[in-house]
Parts: sequence; structure tokens; C-alpha cells
Amino acid sequence: MDKSDIETIEIDLFVEAMARRHGYDFRHYAKASLRRRVAGMLDALGCTTVAEMLPLILHQPELLPSILSNLSVPVTEMFRDPPVFKALRTEVIPVLATYPRLNIWQAGCATGEEAYSLAILLAETGLLERSQIYATDINDAALAKAEEGIYPAEIITKYAESHRLAGGSLDLQSYFSMAYGFGKIDPAIRAHVSFAHHNLVADGVFCEVNMIVCRNVMIYFDTLLQNRVLDLFGQSLVRNGFLCLGSRENVAFAAAGRQFATVNKILRIYKKTGGEA
Ligand SMILES: C[S@@+](CC[C@H](N)C(=O)[O-])C[C@H]1O[C@@H](n2cnc3c(N)ncnc32)[C@H](O)[C@@H]1O
Repeated sequence: MDKSDIETIEIDLFVEAMARRHGYDFRHYAKASLRRRVAGMLDALGCTTVAEMLPLILHQPELLPSILSNLSVPVTEMFRDPPVFKALRTEVIPVLATYPRLNIWQAGCATGEEAYSLAILLAETGLLERSQIYATDINDAALAKAEEGIYPAEIITKYAESHRLAGGSLDLQSYFSMAYGFGKIDPAIRAHVSFAHHNLVADGVFCEVNMIVCRNVMIYFDTLLQNRVLDLFGQSLVRNGFLCLGSRENVAFAAAGRQFATVNKILRIYKKTGGEA
């Protein structure tokens, strides 16, 4: 048995301990990335092997938030992949505009940049007042940052180009109050975004949402879990509701994907048709 076989046993024990002790089930996360995340935690916890982490997981429940934070990859940007936001503006917003009220679920929101980008898009197309965005994640540290809505001025400047490429007309900084090198999101935008802890592996449906945006989250899941999540999305969406996935994700590999029709194949935008899952 070589070192890598032993690491596989340790990762299995880690996953088992997280599920049975804390109710967080990582069994269906893609193995390679889970292994990297767990290895990256060793130093922070003062351990040299994953096996040494097990007593901490079992006997120190106060470490759970930091373990969950380390397992999640809260990398995000405002207007990430600008053509996607441009397609939402031209292909999806005109349909959403026909509804009197809009509920939008943004799953895997990390530190909030994507949820605020959606809110800005809705503001620019005149739909924000009738909209509520529910932005969810399992990483409470990331959610706390998202709640604050404060970002360094230099990254807001960097995101301004993506906003422009996404079809934004106003200067992105105008949606923030800038002071001391930071920008705080405008309360008028903030009021339409609610952040909450929600685990796509274990938690239930959201009712009657008109659009779900879940990008760069399912790439961390195996096909079984992708199927569960697509099923959850299908149950949460209204008929003809939209689903927007990340550039490396799609609905084709899962049986639950059959209830979606393609709106924009390249940009991974789909629509719930109500077909058999
Ligand atoms: C790479 S970020 C994507 C952020 C954003 N959607 C984007 O594309 O810029 C992935 C996020 O998914 C979250 N995540 C991972 N597993 C999750 C789960 N089971 N339920 C909810 N969120 C999860 C992570 O905590 C992380 O914040």
C-alpha cells in the first residue's frame, strides 16, 4: 500500500467523521478537489496527517465553521464571465419582465459579488423593485462578508470593465459609497438581496423561483450529487423558470437534466420545461 492509498483511507475517514459528527456530507464531492482542500487545512490545524485531524473533528465542534470555510472555495467576482450577464440582459430579462414579482435564487454565493451583480442588472433593467434575490452558501465566513457588502476599491475598479462588457451603462462605482479605499454596496441594491445558509447536499427546495443562478458550484460535485441538485432546482423553479450554470457545467449528464431545455448552449442558460426528470 503506498502513501496515496493511505491518504485515500484518511479522506474516507474524514468524510465519514464530518457526516456522522456534524451532518455535512461530502461523500459526493469530486475527490481530487476535496483531497486538495483537506490537505490545505493541515497546517492551519497544526496537523501533519489527515488522521491527526480526526480527533479535532470529533471532539472540537467549535472548529466546524473554520473547517467548512477551508473546504469551500469561495472564489468569485462581480460580473464574472460578462457574456453570461449580457445574455441574461438580452435573452432572459425581457421574459422575466412579464412577471409582476420575481424570486431569484443564487446558490453558492460565496462573498456576495454575484448576487450584487444580479441585483445591479435588475436595477439597470427596471426590475429590481419587484425582485428579491435569495443568495445561499454553506460557508458562514463568506456569507458574513457578503452581508457586509464591502469590497476593496481596487477590485471594484477591476470589475468595472466586466460590468461594461456585460452591457452596464453607469459606472460600477456609482452602486457603492466609496470611502477609505473600500466601497459599500448601495442600500437600495442591498435591500433586495437576502443571504442565508443553505446546503445543496442536504437542504430542501425554495418555492416558486423564477430564476436560479448556480455557477461554479456543481463542478465540485460528482454526477450523483449533480443529479440531486438539478432535481432540487427543477422542484424550486416555476414552469419556464430559468437556470444559469457555470461555463464548465451543464444539464446533460444527469437524468434530472431532462426537465430543462437549452436557452443558450454556450453560456449554459436553461429553462425548466416540466418534462420528466
Ligand atoms: C467557486 S465558488 C462560486 C461562487 C459564484 N457562484 C461564482 O461563480 O463566482 C463556490 C461556492 O459554492 C459553495 N458551496 C460548496 N458546496 C456547497 C453546498 N453543498 N451548498 C451550498 N453551497 C456550496 C462554496 O462554499 C463556495 O462559496
